[in-house]
Amino acid sequence: MGRGGHAPATEDPAKPMFVCICNALKDRELAAASHGARNVAEVFRRCGRRPKCGKCLPDVAELIEAAREDDQGAAKLAAE
Ligand code: FES
Repeated sequence: MGRGGHAPATEDPAKPMFVCICNALKDRELAAASHGARNVAEVFRRCGRRPKCGKCLPDVAELIEAAREDDQGAAKLAAE
């Protein structure tokens, strides 16, 4: 599709996506900062930013939970 075309109906999972519009933070950057983070504020601190409007906070909390599950899965595999 060339410039000016319509966006595809489904998102390309390989394509980075903005999660925090206020700080222009993409999913990959936030996901990387989520590993080992205890809370949303810590993720923002690691990215060198501060939350503003707060609309993205539930999504960042989900990234923390996903990172926690990944880390637990990796630890479980390493222990086997
Ligand atoms: S979208 Fe993240 S603080 Fe506004």
